[in-house]
Amino acid sequence: QSLAAFNTFGVEATCDSLFRFSSEQSIQDWLAGMPIPPEKFFVLGGGSNVLLIGHIPLTFLKADIEGISYREEGNDVFVTAGAGVNWHALVLDSLDNGYSGLENLSLIPGNVGAAPIQNIGAYGVELEQLFVSLSAVDLFSGEKREFGHAECEFGYRDSIFKREYRGKYIITDVTLRLSKKQQLVLTYGPLKELAASTDSVSAKDVSKAVISIRQSKLPDPETLGNAGSFFKNPVVDAEVFQKLKAQFPDIVAYPISESSVKLAAGWLIDQSGLKGYRRGDAGVHQQQALVMVNHGQATGEEILELAGHVKDTVNEKFGVALEPEVWIIGEQHVFEASR
Ligand code: EPU
Repeated sequence: QSLAAFNTFGVEATCDSLFRFSSEQSIQDWLAGMPIPPEKFFVLGGGSNVLLIGHIPLTFLKADIEGISYREEGNDVFVTAGAGVNWHALVLDSLDNGYSGLENLSLIPGNVGAAPIQNIGAYGVELEQLFVSLSAVDLFSGEKREFGHAECEFGYRDSIFKREYRGKYIITDVTLRLSKKQQLVLTYGPLKELAASTDSVSAKDVSKAVISIRQSKLPDPETLGNAGSFFKNPVVDAEVFQKLKAQFPDIVAYPISESSVKLAAGWLIDQSGLKGYRRGDAGVHQQQALVMVNHGQATGEEILELAGHVKDTVNEKFGVALEPEVWIIGEQHVFEASR
C-alpha cells in the first residue's frame, strides 16, 4: 500500500496495509474480527507530522470520522469534532459561527484527531488551553474510553499519547471549549502590532493575520512537501543559556522557568549557515530554517540524512542537541512508531 498521498512530505513510502474508518463503531467491529496483533498497528492522522521511510512493516489505521457539533453553555461553547475533520476547516467553521478560541491556531496542517497527541500550538496558544476531553478506542480491548484534560498529561508538543499510550489508542473525537466572547491572545510579536494598528480586532482578523504570517514563512505542503517544524525548540539550563548568550549575544530564547530557557531552533539552524541548504531534493526551507522540505523526489531516508546533518552542525557550533518534533517511521524505527 503506497503512503505517498498520506504524508505531507510527499515522500514515497509503503506499509503492509491501510484501513480507513468512518465511525467509532466501524473501528470496534473491525478490531473484533482482526487477527493482526495491535503491536503491528500504526495510527495515522493527516500525515502532517510524520517522516515515513521506505517500507514500514505495519498495518496503518486512519480514523476518517467527520462531523462538527456545538453546544452553548452561557458564554462557553463546547465543540466536538470527529478525528478526521481537517484542523483548519474546524478553525474556520468555529469562526464562521461567531466563536472565538481557535484563531491563533489557523492553518495548522493535519486532522483534529492528531491535534491533542502533540498538543499543537502556535502564536501564543496551545491546544491544551482549550482542550476538554477526547474519545478513543483501545486497540487492545476494543473498548471506548474518554480522556479528560489531566489524563492527557500535556506538555510542550507532548502528551501521554506520545509516551505510555503510544500505539495503544485510536482517537475518534475531540471536544474543545470555545467562547462566545472574544478573548484574544495577542502576545506574539506581529499580532501585538495588529492590536496596535486598529481599534477593534476580531477573532477573524487574528485568524487572517495568522494565516498571512504562516503563508509568508511556512511552505504549503501542496506545493512544497514538509511537516512543519522538524525539530522541537530545545530547552536548556539557565547556566548553559548564559554561556551561549555570552558567546552569541543575539541568540533568540524564551525563559520558561527560573532554571530553564527555550531556544529558537530555527535561529540556531539559520546561524549555522544552513537556511536554504540543499542535498538533492532534501532541503532546509529558505524562509524558516526549522522546516525541512522535499523539493520533489526526495526519499524519507534523504530527508532523515539531511536532518542528521542539521543536528550535527548545530551541535558542533552551539553544543545543543536538537530533537525531532516529527515522528520518524520506518523499518528501523518501528519500535519508536509502535511504542
Ligand atoms: N528564526 C530565525 N531564522 C529562521 C527561523 C526562525 O532567525 O530561519 C528566529 C525568528 O526570527 C524568531 C525565532 O527564531 O525570532 C522563532 O521563529 P518563529 O516565530 O518562526 O517560531 P519557531 O519557534 O521557529 C514555533 C513552532 C511553530 C509555530 C511558531 C509560532 C515549534 C517547534 N515550532 O516555531 O510550530 O508555528 O512557533 O508560534 O515549537 C510546528 O510545530 O510544526 C510549527 C510550525
